[in-house]
Amino acid sequence: MHGKFITFEGGDGVGKSTQASLLEQRLRELGEKVYLTREPGGNELCEQIRELLKVSPKMDRICSLLLLFAARREHFVKTISPLLERGYFVICDRFYDSSLVYQGILEGIPIEAILELKRLTLQDFEPNLTLVLDMKAESSLHRLRSRRLIQDEYDALNIEGHNRIREGFRKIAETFSFRAVLIDAEGTKEAVHSRIFTTVEEKLSFGGAPVAID
Ligand code: TMP
Repeated sequence: MHGKFITFEGGDGVGKSTQASLLEQRLRELGEKVYLTREPGGNELCEQIRELLKVSPKMDRICSLLLLFAARREHFVKTISPLLERGYFVICDRFYDSSLVYQGILEGIPIEAILELKRLTLQDFEPNLTLVLDMKAESSLHRLRSRRLIQDEYDALNIEGHNRIREGFRKIAETFSFRAVLIDAEGTKEAVHSRIFTTVEEKLSFGGAPVAID
């Protein structure tokens, strides 16, 4: 695949969506073909699955996991993969690391079972770069509360829950260090964007398609 797949990960309220769109804009300004998407969701059918997950927050946890991977497979086959083939930068707000943390570490589903589903649905496909946004649990909880973003069951977790999620994502960054980088998400959105962009420049090469000489 010619394109690059960049994922944003981290707990709720750390600023992933804002940073994903700032990166989208920046790459677009540089003349790159960019597509911003998210999980769960990302295309019509997958957004319907997101709605199902939202309306049934008390759904059985294995059922939620299977729906998340069903949506992920559909998103990968119909949206992500074709765009990468066409040379796009695809930026995804959350990907399978979120399942490892929320369904695995938080909900207690065995990690090996989740990795097995990952292999079944995505084979050896991995992001080219995963930006793990890291922030003190007190700060992310404060941000969620002040922005009235407490809307789903994970948002509503207390400080201990936010800490477990944070630790989970830190572990992801360590375990998948071949593709994942921990980003300090404290500070202004401009400061965080600048840290992110430096990492993207360092880890991925870009600057438009090479010009053919003959
Ligand atoms: P969002 O608010 O970042 O769009 O994510 C919606 C919620 O879904 C968030 O609380 C995390 C949760 N989630 C999982 O539990 N597992 C997953 O695999 C994904 C992608 C999200």
